[in-house]
Amino acid sequence: MEKFDVTIIGSGPGGYVSAIRCAQLGFKVAIIEKYNTLGGTCLNVGCIPSKAWLEASEHYYKLQNQFQEFGINFKEASVDIVGMRNRVQTVVQEIINGVSYLMKKNKITVYTGVGTIKDKSTVEIKGEENTHTITTDKIIIATGSKPASLPGITIDKKRVISSTEALALKEIPKHLMVIGGGVIGVELGSVFARLGSKVSIVEYLDTLIASMDSSLGKQLYKSLRKQGMDFYLGTKVTKANVLDNEVQLIAENVANQKEMTLQGDYCLMAIGRKPYSDNLGLEELGIKTDKQGRINVDENLETNVKGIYAIGDVVRGAMLAHKASEEGVFVAETIAGQRPHINYALIPNIIYTQPEVAGVGLTEEVLKEAGRSIKTGSFPFKANARAKISMDTDGFIKVIADKETDEILGVHMIGPRIADSYTEAVVAMEFRASAEDIARMSHGHPTFSETFKEACLAATDDRPLHI
Ligand code: FAD
Ligand code: NAI
Repeated sequence: MEKFDVTIIGSGPGGYVSAIRCAQLGFKVAIIEKYNTLGGTCLNVGCIPSKAWLEASEHYYKLQNQFQEFGINFKEASVDIVGMRNRVQTVVQEIINGVSYLMKKNKITVYTGVGTIKDKSTVEIKGEENTHTITTDKIIIATGSKPASLPGITIDKKRVISSTEALALKEIPKHLMVIGGGVIGVELGSVFARLGSKVSIVEYLDTLIASMDSSLGKQLYKSLRKQGMDFYLGTKVTKANVLDNEVQLIAENVANQKEMTLQGDYCLMAIGRKPYSDNLGLEELGIKTDKQGRINVDENLETNVKGIYAIGDVVRGAMLAHKASEEGVFVAETIAGQRPHINYALIPNIIYTQPEVAGVGLTEEVLKEAGRSIKTGSFPFKANARAKISMDTDGFIKVIADKETDEILGVHMIGPRIADSYTEAVVAMEFRASAEDIARMSHGHPTFSETFKEACLAATDDRPLHI
């Protein structure tokens, strides 16, 4: 029986990054993945394919809606959905190959099959053809999450689909109805709206992307409406009837219970994801989970069984790839006797719509509710030269700072290239910068990031220069 120092179950961004860090620290490592490809949800059916579809569909949208204004004439553009899918698959495959290479480079043993924990030092791997048993000193559970569904509505994967099927569609829906105006709803809704589908998003709450600062949801609503998407906010879906090649959605207005119906060829269920821990043997081992099925962990990400850790989507906290990876590194270093640290307050939250959206730190609503004395400064992209050049003027950056000390407490951004440029805000907050620190730093001209400087000037004492 082969013996390892650390065995990791699940090869998503939590599991495979943890495996690399464990190997760097000198451990003999095994990683177990039930599918034939490494990379988990993020790489196979999440972050990477969704961003690749967003990229391709954005090119098509800009070609049709902006290129002539740039002075570029063309005869006719059309979408080759198979070609687009192939390109998405190529990107995914290249990164999968990259992860396999990293496993080899770091001498990590990869097992394909379902991993079950037999006891705190024995793991069984059931492959398609045979079963292996290995022994191990430590175990890291990194089994991720699966799409959730509403009671009474079954994801049949044909007409009522989850993000996984939406990312593999062979045709452009005529009318895509989306349940949920959260992250998946607005990202995948954007993809198909840009490709020509009628898209209707039904959201229970009266705002989109409700977990973020409310100013962002309001702006995103305006921008996506301009792009042709329809929204039914404050509306709760109660039923979905599949009728041959169509789906009928029944929903009710949350305020007055008035019923409405929508009919379309596809219905995307995007109401959140649930932790996945089937077949792990948790009950037999006495590993505790919470009401939502998340594995309980302490401040070291260790479960109630010593030597068994859990990370990523299967434990509490944001369901994000980079959060899972940070936790993977954290556990590897903890096992090695180090004292690592994760600043959960500054884990970025990014949405890759057009405009892109990002938030870090505390929202205005949370700060006000906590009675904190704050000041805010906003600056719109329509007053930014670089945004004018690229015709990306929707959106703004809002900075919230402590009224007395001027320390930045939250940065909420919606606009062009936010996903990359907003790391400046994370660095500023990690080093506990004041709004005036950023306002006094020279920002290159013309750049999108000048908007952050201007928003900090506005927050410092209302002295933006270009508005
Ligand atoms: P996962 O990536 O889910 O990996 C878990 C792995 O464990 C899976 O491969 C699974 O097959 C395997 N497994 C489970 N049980 C067993 C078992 N018993 N034996 C062996 N293997 C097992 N996050 C971002 O940060 N940015 C984004 O842009 C983003 N976009 C997304 C888009 C979509 C459409 C979706 C659905 C999610 C997106 N996410 C994004 C979220 C991100 O994918 C997850 O937060 C991330 O994948 C979680 O990583 P993980 O390692 O915890 O689990
Ligand atoms: P979500 O939690 O972001 O949004 C779900 C929405 O569905 C909520 O706004 C909720 O109010 C609504 N809803 C619930 N029941 C409803 C009903 N009966 N009728 C109408 N609306 C209803 O979940 P989503 O979009 O499924 O995404 C899951 C997770 O995947 C995200 O929370 C995120 O962690 C991750 N993800 C991250 C991405 C990124 O980082 N860019 C991209 C995509 C997913």
